[in-house]
Amino acid sequence: EKAGFDHFMLKEIYEQPKAYRDTMGSRIDPSGKRIVMNELKMTDEYIHRIQQIHIVACGTAYHAGMVGKSIIEKLARIPVETDVASEYRYRSPIITPNTLVVVVSQSGETADTLAALREAKRCGARVVAITNVVGSSVAREADDVIVTWAGPEIAVASTKAYTSQLIAFYLFGLYLAQTLGTQDEAYIADVVTELKLLPDKVEQILQHAEIIKEWAEQISTHDNLFFIGRGIDYAVVLEGSLKLKEISYIHSEAYPSGELKHGTLALIEEGIPVIALATQPELFEKTVSNIKEVKARGAYVFGIHTLGETELVKAVDQVLEIPQTIPLLSPALSVVPLQLLAYYASLARGNDVDKPRNLAKSVTVE
Ligand code: M6R
Repeated sequence: EKAGFDHFMLKEIYEQPKAYRDTMGSRIDPSGKRIVMNELKMTDEYIHRIQQIHIVACGTAYHAGMVGKSIIEKLARIPVETDVASEYRYRSPIITPNTLVVVVSQSGETADTLAALREAKRCGARVVAITNVVGSSVAREADDVIVTWAGPEIAVASTKAYTSQLIAFYLFGLYLAQTLGTQDEAYIADVVTELKLLPDKVEQILQHAEIIKEWAEQISTHDNLFFIGRGIDYAVVLEGSLKLKEISYIHSEAYPSGELKHGTLALIEEGIPVIALATQPELFEKTVSNIKEVKARGAYVFGIHTLGETELVKAVDQVLEIPQTIPLLSPALSVVPLQLLAYYASLARGNDVDKPRNLAKSVTVE
């Protein structure tokens, strides 16, 4: 059932190209230029009335939601807030009939997410669920459902569900933009073209798993490390850090690189590993100077960047280049090496990769 892989997690990491293709599936018009979301019951008139969007989820799904915020704000120009589901109800969120609430849940059974969904509906919001389980509680109670066709995810550490959630956000963001006219048709067609290239690019990254395995062996002897990134890369390193903690039990913190000097830089000492993600051209120079700040204090830096940016190669100790795409789509590629890093670090430490201590796949208690 593991199809020749040692663990479900590794199998699920390698299933991502298929999960991307299946999630895009018939939602891309045969012309390749438009998004079709026949599953949505919301009308165009409703979409024009949306004033704000709240994205609510837990754990990895929350991290997908953080990327979702960037996607929707950039493409559809609607203000988006993100909330951890266990906090949402208790902060008296301002929910009006013109608030669209997007809940994200692989299992569709997470108690906190379900409670947030019910609270949103009680306050009169429309709720869209992005879920991997057709017929789950979240799917049944939401007004609209966008299914991620990742297939069953068995490992406790979520991988293909997260990336399929990203794909769902790209599709939904494009759909909103198309309906609202916030982006011109040619731009939408370009993004769609690039989306379709992602599965092959993930395959290319997977061919470099050996490099990541070596990195993982190096970091596995440390007890603390940092992940840094800016903009959308910050959302991705949060996910990388969670994955590493969850299965390798190595403590790590994910930081927006520019924020280090406001306190955390004090923790950087000789030999501490720092994983730096730098995929965003407009933030690239700033990220390189942040890398130099940690290097100057003795950090050992592993850099992941988009092909063609040579400045970073000089600034870091080890480098992994990932294929180019448009900056907004980069999380769907850059998270893959971070998933592999967590996997191989867990393996190097002799942990139970698929069933980490203290955790359950589906969290049905609040
Ligand atoms: O099933 P859900 O997407 O609602 O689960 C949410 C989180 O419990 C889940 O993503 C958790 O953070 C993962 N174990 C992380 O790998």
